[in-house]
Amino acid sequence: MSCYEIEGGRPLTGRLTVQGAKNSALPILAACLLAPEPCEICNCPRLSDVSATLKILSQLGCRVKREGDRVTVDPTNLSSCRIPEQLMGEMRSSVIFMGALLARLGRAELSFPGGCELGPRPIDLHLRGLRAMGAEILEEGGSLRCRWADQREGRELYLTIPSVGATENLMLAACGVPGETTILGAAREPEIVDLQNFLLTLGAEVTGAGTDRITVRGGTGKMHGCTYTVMGDRIAAATYLCAAGAAGGEVELTGVEPEHLAAVLGCLEEAGCRIRTGRGLISLKSGGELQGIGLVRTAPYPGFPTDAQAILMAALAGGRGTTLFEENMFSSRFRHVDELRRMGAQIETAGRAALVMGTGGLHGAAVTSTDLRGGAALVVAGLAAQGTTQVRNLRHIRRGYEKFEETLTALGGKIREVSEP
Ligand code: UD1
Repeated sequence: MSCYEIEGGRPLTGRLTVQGAKNSALPILAACLLAPEPCEICNCPRLSDVSATLKILSQLGCRVKREGDRVTVDPTNLSSCRIPEQLMGEMRSSVIFMGALLARLGRAELSFPGGCELGPRPIDLHLRGLRAMGAEILEEGGSLRCRWADQREGRELYLTIPSVGATENLMLAACGVPGETTILGAAREPEIVDLQNFLLTLGAEVTGAGTDRITVRGGTGKMHGCTYTVMGDRIAAATYLCAAGAAGGEVELTGVEPEHLAAVLGCLEEAGCRIRTGRGLISLKSGGELQGIGLVRTAPYPGFPTDAQAILMAALAGGRGTTLFEENMFSSRFRHVDELRRMGAQIETAGRAALVMGTGGLHGAAVTSTDLRGGAALVVAGLAAQGTTQVRNLRHIRRGYEKFEETLTALGGKIREVSEP
């Protein structure tokens, strides 16, 4: 087993192009099933979650080929509607195949998805929405058998929580339902806009992504193959910005839309960083020690993203002043706090709240990543801390960061992968 060894306290300076967005690439790859011809997906990051998605596509009978950042998915010979339990368990977003398989084959056999690291993650909204569209779903001992009932037609669907995954699943399923399906209370995340843009390139009729009302006109039979470029990853971008804010230095990121990160940029500016933005470009110059910023509340987009909560917390823990974090999206998303405490962080938690009291500097320690963004947060803390930090359990980080240590090294960070002592 390997771990990261980080010598902290070095400023990060330089330019980087942000990787393609994990949370766009996964639903887009699943949506390739809707095409009767090959689709070429560019800017597709090399991540373990992407590999798991490609394995599922191969298992279903698609031909999958990767050349550099370009992945070709050929679903012409799609032969199976069944995803084995072991592949479903590799990541939560595998649930998105339910909508895609229903739309393309009218059937799907899978199990409840894995990925419970943030607390219970139900899929009731996905199932309720699909049933309302006319799917019959049999739940039996952890497995799900879905097929369209004889009658299915477009109608209005209501989401009680703006769930990203449920919105995407229903968009894909609706492509196979004749007539107009409208999703009310839809999530507004940029990744949903990216999925809509992909579906449009594929020949689907979808409007409204980015608002809470999305309309899909399905069953048109107009789908075809296409080439599509995945948008930049706003959470990976937030990670590099927080790292430079905490460790000091000046970074320029390209390939990411500043608008997608408005809430994070606002926090970093308030903490003392100088931010400059342009089209597809964000630069950050450290203004010295980060300052406490009062209150950070995670919320659905365009609010502060839950995926950046641990990362910003890690950056502020070594700064000055206090910040109260309120985690409103997931019930168990403070597992990084105990690890940050090993590095000298002063953080008190109670329920949904975590009060961070800046210590003026963290110190290196051996820590273990507990989930994807929590792991990235420990790397951010390690880069800013004095001394050596070892971050163990890299499998979580590999789910979401492409060439993480190479990128940070190119910026001047001292991080390398070593065998676990
Ligand atoms: C997606 C992102 C994840 C991000 C999250 C919130 C992907 C692959 N993952 O996850 O990185 O942290 O959005 O921005 O895109 N809920 C229910 N019932 C459901 C579905 C969700 O109660 O059927 C709840 C969840 O428990 C959670 C909230 O809704 O409290 C939001 O979850 P959701 O938006 O669905 O997150 P994911 O799509 O799983």
